[in-house]
Amino acid sequence: MRNKLSIAIDGPAAAGKSTVAKIIAEHYAYIYIDTGAMYRALTYKAIQANINLHDEDAVADILSNIHIELKPNEEGQIVLVNGEDVTEVIRTNEVTNQVSIVAMHPKVRREMLVRQRQLAADGGVVMDGRDIGTHVLPNAELKIFLKASVEERALRRYEENKLKGFDTDLDKLKQEIANRDKLDSEREIAPLKKAEDAIEIDTTSLTIEGVVRKIEDYIEERL
Ligand code: CDP
Ligand code: CDP
Repeated sequence: MRNKLSIAIDGPAAAGKSTVAKIIAEHYAYIYIDTGAMYRALTYKAIQANINLHDEDAVADILSNIHIELKPNEEGQIVLVNGEDVTEVIRTNEVTNQVSIVAMHPKVRREMLVRQRQLAADGGVVMDGRDIGTHVLPNAELKIFLKASVEERALRRYEENKLKGFDTDLDKLKQEIANRDKLDSEREIAPLKKAEDAIEIDTTSLTIEGVVRKIEDYIEERL
């Protein structure tokens, strides 16, 4: 039998992490773990509870009361919080534009790290996020850091929104992505950063298939 690897995929917003992670996980029958969805789920619940998102203890308190589940389905995964399906509602602009504040708190990150390591404990996982290669799975057999120009990433989100039926302002999207990148890269605990032993892939002018092919070549080398 072939080994089951742990694969870490990190990078900034809209670099293509979840799209390629899902394809690879399906291909190798690995578990896909979207750690961003966990931070989004917490942000959604904190907004609902009407607390100050800058209040670390209040946010950590919410986290201690929620059980977040990531369940695979045909489209990748559904996200449940205490049994409630939040898959769609955690993708709203309201959540997207505030999640980096919630993700900054050390108490939140410590707890998320424990939960994420538990989810990955048996190996055979593709986990995507910002700090997977650097903190969550420092011993992952394969670490990938995906990047792309901010213009390209904004355009990807714009096209995605158009497909869903709403028109967005491209410049505004670009600004929001740049703001989130800045908050994620400059926070003190586990910032968005390429792990020293990660392989960097610039996806700006690559297709999804092109990125998947490159990563699968690295996987095959390690199996
Ligand atoms: O899909 P997108 O790249 O827009 O974002 P995401 O992966 O859903 O992550 C949402 C936010 O969660 C990020 O902007 C980070 O603030 C936070 N996050 C994090 O801090 N650490 C992770 N491992 C994953 C996400
Ligand atoms: O997870 P992350 O935020 O890094 O990005 P994503 O949600 O997987 O991808 C953002 C969008 O870019 C999706 O609509 C993809 O179809 C598209 N895309 C891509 O992921 N990779 C490419 N090489 C080209 C386009």
